[in-house]
Amino acid sequence: MYVESLALENYRNYAHLSVNLSPGINIFFGDNAQGKTNVLEALYMCATTKSHRGSRDREIIRFGEEEAHIRMLLSKEHVRHKIDMHLKKNKSKGIAIDGIPIRKSGELFGLVHMICFSPEDLAMIKNGPGERRRFLDLELCQLDKVYLHNISNYNKIVNQRNNLLKQIGFDSALKDTLDIWDMQMVNYGRKVIETRKLFIAQLNEWLEQIHGRLTGNREKLQLVYQPSTEPEDFERALLSRREQDIRMKMSGTGPHRDDFLFMVGNVDIRKFGSQGQQRTAALSLKLAEIELVRQSIGGEPVLLLDDVLSELDSSRQNYLLDCIKDIQTVITCTGLDEFVNHRFNIDRIFKVTDGTVDFVNEVVG
Ligand SMILES: Nc1ncnc2c1ncn2[C@@H]1O[C@H](COP(=O)(O)OP(=O)(O)O)[C@@H](O)[C@H]1O
Ligand SMILES: [Mg+2]
Repeated sequence: MYVESLALENYRNYAHLSVNLSPGINIFFGDNAQGKTNVLEALYMCATTKSHRGSRDREIIRFGEEEAHIRMLLSKEHVRHKIDMHLKKNKSKGIAIDGIPIRKSGELFGLVHMICFSPEDLAMIKNGPGERRRFLDLELCQLDKVYLHNISNYNKIVNQRNNLLKQIGFDSALKDTLDIWDMQMVNYGRKVIETRKLFIAQLNEWLEQIHGRLTGNREKLQLVYQPSTEPEDFERALLSRREQDIRMKMSGTGPHRDDFLFMVGNVDIRKFGSQGQQRTAALSLKLAEIELVRQSIGGEPVLLLDDVLSELDSSRQNYLLDCIKDIQTVITCTGLDEFVNHRFNIDRIFKVTDGTVDFVNEVVG
C-alpha cells in the first residue's frame, strides 16, 4: 500500500500543489516555515480526517480562502483508490472515496494507514498526559472502528455532562438528570479503558525486544497504563465525585484523564530519566507502533517523519531507517547533509520553497 500522488488546493500556504511520490523513501527539504510539515499534515489528514498537529479545518484553509481540497491517489494491492477531501470554513468536511461520498469518517479508515513521527512524539514522555492520550487515540481510531465509535461518543457525553455541570450551578433541580449522563459515560468509558489496556499490553510485547536492541539490552522498557478509574469502579467513582464535579463544573474522572508511564526497570523515566533515555524510549514506542500496525493490518502503513531524523544520533537514525526499509516513507528535513553518512536509498527528493515544491532528483541507489 502506498500513496502515488497528492494534490492540494488552498491548503495552508499552498495555492496549488501536485506531487508524485515514490513507493520508497521521499524527502522534502527546505528552510523553516516553507511548507514541509504542511505536506505531511495533508497526507495524514487525508488518511485520518485529522491534523496530526491537532489543527482545526478552518485554520488549515489558506488565509483569505473559503475552502481547501486534498486529493490523494493510493495504490493498494494493485488497485487504485482516490480520496477526495473538501475542507470548509463553517461546515464539516466532505469526503469521497473513488468518487462516492461517505457519511462517516470511519469509512475512510482501513483504506490507508498513516503513522506520523514528529518532534512532539519525541517529547511525549516529558509533556503532559494529553499528548499521551492523543497518541493512544490517533492510533487506536485508525486500527479499530469500534474504538472510534466508543471514544467519539464518550467525548461527546463528557462535553454534554460538563455543560450540565455548569447549568446545575444556576439550577440545582437539574442535578437529577446527571444519572442519565453518568450511565452513558460509564457504558462507553468502560469500553475505551478495556481497549486501551489491550493496546498497551500489545505494545509492550514489541517494546521489550525493540528497546532491548536499541539499548544493547541494557534497558527493559514497559508502558504502565494508569487509567483514571478501573472499568468496574467507574460508576462508583463518578457518584462519589459528583459533588466535587458540580463545584468544579467539570468531570474529574474517566478515560479523558488517563495516562501511562514509561518504566525502565523500576524507574519512571518521565521523572528520573535523562533526555536521551526519554527520546530513545519515544523512538522505541514509535517502532513498536509500526510493528503492531503491520501485524494488525497485515500490510505496510505509510510513515511520515517530520523533522525527527536530525534529533536522533546516527546509530538511532540507522536503526530507524533499517526498520522501515519496506515502508513508503515521507521525510522532512532542513538540509540533505544529514543523510551523507547513511546507508539507505533515497528514492525521490523535493525542495520546498514558500509554498512551492520542486522535484529535484530521482535517486537510483
Ligand atoms: N491557513 C494558512 N494559510 C496560509 N499559510 C499558512 C496557513 N497556515 C500556515 N501557513 C503558513 O505555512 C508556513 C508553515 O508551514 P510548515 O509546513 O509548518 O513549515 P515547515 O517547512 O517549517 O515545516 C508558514 O509560513 C505559515 O505562515
Ligand atoms: Mg515543519
